[in-house]
Amino acid sequence: MKKENRIRAAVIVLLVLIFSTPTILFSQTEERVIPENAKSMSNPLKDSMQFLPEAKTIYKSKCTPCHGKKGKGDGPSAYTCDPKPADHSSDFVQNRTDGELFWLISNGHTQTPMVSFKKTVNANERWKLILYIRSLAAKKS
Ligand code: HEC
Repeated sequence: MKKENRIRAAVIVLLVLIFSTPTILFSQTEERVIPENAKSMSNPLKDSMQFLPEAKTIYKSKCTPCHGKKGKGDGPSAYTCDPKPADHSSDFVQNRTDGELFWLISNGHTQTPMVSFKKTVNANERWKLILYIRSLAAKKS
């Protein structure tokens, strides 16, 4: 009887492993799924110049450690990150809509060092951060 139980337990463990493996693999390579209605949200703050100094201060304390002073993804903690922090001045990031950036900052990206800032940075401040990210766009000559 005891042996039977052990075998049963082993079978259960095996089954759990088999069924959870695809989930683990899938969630690590998963593309960020940004809901359609989030993508089209627009920044309620328009006058960027007015908000930039404050935005810079928030960025410096919360984002610079990984994303770097100019958003290049080269902050002092960047080397601990896998994947590497996004380059906020790049076309890749700049081509995102304000709504997408807002969603990404609010929800973070599971399985990466980019955490959700929903609780630590209020919505108004997150919109200010997006104005700041826009100001980091690589200058085209
Ligand atoms: C602990 C390090 C860390 C901190 C702090 C951090 N990030 Fe990130 N961030 C990352 C990493 C790593 C990625 C890349 C995730 C990926 O490739 O999936 C990322 C990605 C992003 C993206 C998505 C870029 C894209 O287009 O896919 C945005 C936007 C972003 N960060 C904004 C911010 C803002 C704003 C802050 C400050 C409030 C911040 N991050 C703080 C590590 C960090």
